[in-house]
Amino acid sequence: MVHGTPLSRPPPGPRGVFRPSAREEPTVAFMVMLLDLQDRDRSIRRLRDWAVAGAGVGPGLRVVDVGSGTGTMAQELASLVGPSGHVTAVEPNPALRGLAEERAAEAGSPAVFVDGLADALPLADGSVDVVWCERVLQHLDDPQAAVREHARVLAPGGCAVLLDSDHDTRVIAAVSPAVGRALNDAFLRGVTSPRVGRTIPELVVRAGLELDPDVGAAVLVMPPATLRDAPFLQQMGAMALADGSLTEAELDAALAAMTVAADEGWAFSAVTIFGFLGRRPLA
Ligand SMILES: C[S@@+](CC[C@H](N)C(=O)[O-])C[C@H]1O[C@@H](n2cnc3c(N)ncnc32)[C@H](O)[C@@H]1O
Repeated sequence: MVHGTPLSRPPPGPRGVFRPSAREEPTVAFMVMLLDLQDRDRSIRRLRDWAVAGAGVGPGLRVVDVGSGTGTMAQELASLVGPSGHVTAVEPNPALRGLAEERAAEAGSPAVFVDGLADALPLADGSVDVVWCERVLQHLDDPQAAVREHARVLAPGGCAVLLDSDHDTRVIAAVSPAVGRALNDAFLRGVTSPRVGRTIPELVVRAGLELDPDVGAAVLVMPPATLRDAPFLQQMGAMALADGSLTEAELDAALAAMTVAADEGWAFSAVTIFGFLGRRPLA
């Protein structure tokens, strides 16, 4: 018996979410819940502010938000570039794109949402000043192809903002280090490019962009209530059980310990999100 919120069906594994084809209602609801949670995360807020400043996002700039999800950053970027600028938000998942369009319309945002893929952007060569690509590369089989595509659409002097997780940095408080490692190792096997955070500098250089020496970082935190009420650990636990790295008794004990820690208010897990800036050379 696995502790935690009873689920009417198993939560989608990491490979099942944030795919262009992920359209089932429970999966869409799970993705939106995660993105809304991340939007509220104060550490993410600080990383976004660092990136906005580093890329010099301001009035009149042409911006593309690649893999724009629910469109929160697309709306924010649109307000920063103002009426003389333009934001194109590229999102291949029709459910997320539709929700982002609804939210933007409600907010009166001029951001324009279009279909497209990170490695095949519907934009001309050298046509944008800023590429914003947040937590998308980890979902791609070939992140290098995407960063090359960013370089293609950037105008000389333009800046690519690449923010992404390195899932091999996750800590899970309230379970033993060995159980935490087993849970996370199982999760890593389910993510398409789980360690992409640490590879971004290489991707940037190989795409012919100039890497900014300043590196940004945030920790994406799952607070107690989220760990107790959302199925993250159950999901990781199910994967660890399936590959034999944890027994049912070990998983049961870990989830029980997490539930107690969450009820006492001190449970958390955190994963590092790195931020890098790559500029297209002027010449
Ligand atoms: C974790 S979400 C991040 C959304 C948003 N950038 C944010 O940070 O809130 C990943 C996004 O990448 C999109 N995505 C997945 N595969 C993609 C691809 N090949 N090209 C572009 N976007 C993709 C997903 O649909 C999803 O919106």
